[in-house]
Amino acid sequence: MDVKQESDLEPLCSCANLTYGDARKLLARPSGMTYDQLLAETGAGQTCTACLLNMEYFCSSEGAAAAATGLVTDASLKAQERRSLKLRLYDWLDTVFPLIAFNRTNFIPILCGPDIETNLRVTNHKLLFKEGHNPPFKIRYAIRNAAGGLLKRNTALLGVGEELNVPVSTFLDPPEEGQPFSIGMVEIDRFGKFPGNRGTTRPQVEILSKDGSSAVHSQAYNSPGDIWFTAQNRTDEERLFVIVLNASRVDLVFSIAYPFSPLGVAAGSLQVKQETLAGKGAYVHEVTGIAPDELVYSLRAQIGHAAKVMLLCATPDLSRISVDHP
Ligand code: FES
Repeated sequence: MDVKQESDLEPLCSCANLTYGDARKLLARPSGMTYDQLLAETGAGQTCTACLLNMEYFCSSEGAAAAATGLVTDASLKAQERRSLKLRLYDWLDTVFPLIAFNRTNFIPILCGPDIETNLRVTNHKLLFKEGHNPPFKIRYAIRNAAGGLLKRNTALLGVGEELNVPVSTFLDPPEEGQPFSIGMVEIDRFGKFPGNRGTTRPQVEILSKDGSSAVHSQAYNSPGDIWFTAQNRTDEERLFVIVLNASRVDLVFSIAYPFSPLGVAAGSLQVKQETLAGKGAYVHEVTGIAPDELVYSLRAQIGHAAKVMLLCATPDLSRISVDHP
């Protein structure tokens, strides 16, 4: 494996002030060190977490470099000893069968309203990965309205160093009278031209509002069952919305219930909303009516089959919106 050698002085985790040189020394120490120990002992990767992908790549590269050069460190030797029969069997299978690139469909919500826009953004930057490790990606996306109706389908080829920005909210109708915004969703598929590093190609949803912007990476669907959120009850200064995106073509039966205590015990005033959502449809529910003495509460979404559940926090006038996932 071709391992890129970073200068010992370059930062690996800026938050923890950890350089590549520091990390190399720790990985090679006689008592050995695993990736998890490196994070725990240095505090790296635990603040903004932006370095985690690079840390993981660096640790696995160091192990591979040691094996390739015959310089087996104590850490890599111990890791090898610890590998179970099953993992060693997988290692062997990897040498026999070729790697293939695979896709998992990701989902993001679309919000459209006065001063509210949503963009789908995908970038293909190679970061610290060596030339040739990042494939070009074929990005296929479908934009749908709340009822699951297809508004646009497109495919784009994203070479290394290229970016895709789709103003997805321009495809939605404006909100109906009395609604804060209209909602829809985007399904995104990524096909790497060859197996390699994902790099930065995880799609992002970007929500722009009057006084701020927010973004979060997309994800595959949640499996059927319960999904929990815990929130502070700050109804004077914050509005909370639950978003449900149906990942299937079949109608989705789901419920949203709150407030529970943070331990999952239902309060006396439990509100339960049960709905059916059309195939590939999108739904938004605003959380209201929590008694002021519930300082912190939990909310449960129950989904009957594959769906993506997300949360929006907003200022009362929706001038700032923050989006997150469980
Ligand atoms: S750069 Fe490593 S946690 Fe922020």
